[in-house]
Amino acid sequence: MIVLGIESSCDETAAAVVEDGRNILSDVISSQIAFHTPYGGVVPEIASRKHVEAILPVISQALKDAGLTGRELDAVAVTRGPGLIGALLVGLSAAKAMAYALDRPLIAVNHLEGHMNAAYLGGAPEDRPFVCLVVSGGHTALYEVEPGGASRFLGSTRDDAAGEAFDKVAKLLGLGYPGGVVIDRLAAGGDPRAFSFPRAFLGKDSLEFSFSGLKTSVANFLRRMGPPAPEGGEGAYRLEDLAASFQEAVVDVLIGKLLKAAGDRGIGDIAVVGGVAANRRLRHRLAEAAGERGLALFLPPLRFCTDNAVMIAAAGYSIWKRSGFCRDPLNLDATSRWF
Ligand code: KG4
Ligand code: ZN
Repeated sequence: MIVLGIESSCDETAAAVVEDGRNILSDVISSQIAFHTPYGGVVPEIASRKHVEAILPVISQALKDAGLTGRELDAVAVTRGPGLIGALLVGLSAAKAMAYALDRPLIAVNHLEGHMNAAYLGGAPEDRPFVCLVVSGGHTALYEVEPGGASRFLGSTRDDAAGEAFDKVAKLLGLGYPGGVVIDRLAAGGDPRAFSFPRAFLGKDSLEFSFSGLKTSVANFLRRMGPPAPEGGEGAYRLEDLAASFQEAVVDVLIGKLLKAAGDRGIGDIAVVGGVAANRRLRHRLAEAAGERGLALFLPPLRFCTDNAVMIAAAGYSIWKRSGFCRDPLNLDATSRWF
């Protein structure tokens, strides 16, 4: 079965063609990051307008790369939510138009389920349950994913998402948007034990997260200590050490909660997906922790950590199969919140 996936929930316009949920025939992403960078974050109105400009060329390119015409598609899968409502509407409207014109099923996909499907692209076996940490700019949540792809929510953040914490701290440090990847790079040259930032575990049985206190703690640190030493110069502290110490606090909590969830449920397979799963320190520490405990760890290739349409096509295919090949109605609405 050949599924076209469409993703437009935030600042990437993406389309991909995937066969049977795994065989990637094309994968096109048009990033808007450059248009949002001057504002230090995603501006929803700009996102909607840029999606409108990019959506048709991106879909055409995905079909061209796959060497297919629309008529050869079996279904159209699209992110329905959660995300920026104006941005979601662009992808959803394009998907509805294609589904209607081609008379193919429309399959609505939850963006988080899309991210979870990227675990299969990282090798997670489909016939065993796994505990999945979804960690992105908008979400930080734990799920138990059953064979077949249905998931059970275990816990999420009470305030900021982990990626949001990376982005906000990067903004405090004047490092630009998006900040996660810049902090990742700086932290590689810093000492993660240079400064001690709070780790919010919220009680020993909790599978919830909280990152707003950590962000405040970094803001207080900056107020107290002033700016870091200029590159190669003298100063109160090194920016690299601050980045590494902040990152370590996030990584400690993410890994602690993921291991707890897997331990509680007696599940030996774990996966981490979403933009923050691209973080090198997190990937390294996860591999260590999984090795020590005899857990099997599955991480998507870097390209499938951040937003993409391959994961939406893959999730769409598994949702479609699970539903007995039903179609969603064409009057379906986008939804900014969807758990
Ligand atoms: O999954 P994604 O592309 O979009 C959402 O669904 O939110 O995730 C984007 C988030 C941003 O907050 C970005 O700063 C973060 O992922 N991110 C990273 C890294 N690469 C992207 N955070 C830490 N380290 C990275 N290498
Ligand atoms: Zn995402």
